[in-house]
Order: sequence, then C-alpha cells, then structure tokens
Amino acid sequence: MHISVKPHPQFPAIYQVTLEDGAQRLATRNLTPGRNVYGERLIRFEGVEYRVWDAFRSKLAAAINKNLKTVPIKPNHTVLYLGAASGTTASHVSDIVGEKGRVYCVEFASRAIRELVNNVCAYRVNMLPILEDARFPEKYAVFVSGKVDDIYCDIAQPEQAKVLADNADLFLKKHGWIMLAVKSQSIDVTKEPSEVYKQETKVLKNRGFDIEEIVHLEPYDKAHAMIVARFY
Ligand SMILES: C[S@@+](CC[C@H](N)C(=O)[O-])C[C@H]1O[C@@H](n2cnc3c(N)ncnc32)[C@H](O)[C@@H]1O
Repeated sequence: MHISVKPHPQFPAIYQVTLEDGAQRLATRNLTPGRNVYGERLIRFEGVEYRVWDAFRSKLAAAINKNLKTVPIKPNHTVLYLGAASGTTASHVSDIVGEKGRVYCVEFASRAIRELVNNVCAYRVNMLPILEDARFPEKYAVFVSGKVDDIYCDIAQPEQAKVLADNADLFLKKHGWIMLAVKSQSIDVTKEPSEVYKQETKVLKNRGFDIEEIVHLEPYDKAHAMIVARFY
C-alpha cells in the first residue's frame, strides 16, 4: 500500500495520513523541510513534506483523535503557548499557523528551553521562545506584541485555569479561544479526574469564558482532558 495524505475534513492545515500498513495518523505540513523535532517521521507526498504527529506525545493530536469539534488554532494566527517544553506540540502549532503566524513559547525550565531554542526556534522563524514563569504574565508582556488569537496551556501545574485566565486578561483578543490541557493529578491527587475538570471549568467560567467542549484524552493520556473555551 502507498502512503497517502489528505486534508483533515474539519481543520485547516491539519492532515490525515494513511501509512503503508493502512494505519491512520495526523500530520502537519513541515515548515522546515528535512528537519524533525522529536524523532517524528517525515513523509513526502505529491512534492510536499509532512511531519507525522504522534498522538501519544502530543495532547493536541490526542484531542483531535478523540473527536474534538473545535481546533481554534488556524493558519496566520498568533498563539501564546504556555508550557512549550522542548517544542513537541508547539512545533506542530508552528506548522499550522504557518509563516505568517506566530507562536510565543513560554517555558520556565532552562533545560527544556535550551532544547527548544537550539533545535526548534533556531529554524522556525514564527516561534519566539520566552524563558519566564507563566504565573507572572506581566513579566513577559514586553515581548508579546499586540493581542493573540489563541492561548494553548499545558503547564501541568496547580491552578492551571487561573494561570491561563491571568494570561488571557493581558494577552487574549476579545472572542479569542483557549485550549487547556488539564492534568488532574497536578491539581489535587485526592480528587477524581472528573471533579478536577469540573473545578477547572468553573474557574474558567468565573473568569469570563464560555466552555465549548471538554474531551478526555484516554487512551493517549491518562487522567488528562482538553478544555476548549472562548473569551468574552
Ligand atoms: C507537560 S509539559 C508540556 C508539553 C508540551 N506542551 C508538549 O505537548 O510538547 C509541561 C511544561 O510546562 C512547563 N511549566 C510548568 N509550569 C510552568 C510555568 N509556571 N511557567 C512556564 N512553564 C511551566 C514545564 O517546565 C514543562 O516543560
């Protein structure tokens, strides 16, 4: 069987790949042909290079595989990405927003950001690394020009929803979108995951968000959910 690639039926700049063995995967068009970020497979189809997107390594891909209805991140968008780590998911976001888009990558672990800068941002002109703590958005306000279309948050920390809302107050456009990857154990190990999701959702509602959907990420990620919401 030959490899084939087709656009995702709902989401621009996201692709569906059928591999040689018939397995289905997500992919994004590689903004830096010839380079991969985390060992992901590069494939060529009809003269274009794509990066196969590993749903076991990326919660955004996992959420799409779990039938997320809304992926607000689109070509030409400016995205504030909190918890960029070494760039696994952020690099796919960079592919999606494309050359005219921008991804501000906030990460406070110096080792992770070193990898992000040397292996990813150095080759991707639309990614801007910010070595800062997402709990203190005013510290990096000077680096973010204008308002952003979307905020993606995956910091695996207590009070994730509060941290996200504090960033939204400073940086998110009116009617902008957020995606929050909630790791329940980071918030309270004594609570059932669904309790934690409810609690984080409540924080978002109280801070001016309309919840669009919540998708559980099993089997790709245990005790994780993706919350998508809009800012009013
Ligand atoms: C689960 S990992 C992120 C994985 C990444 N989003 C991906 O899919 O490729 C969480 C990251 O958030 C970072 N982080 C946690 N708390 C943070 C904070 N307050 N400010 C900035 N980064 C933070 C951690 O250092 C870690 O790299």
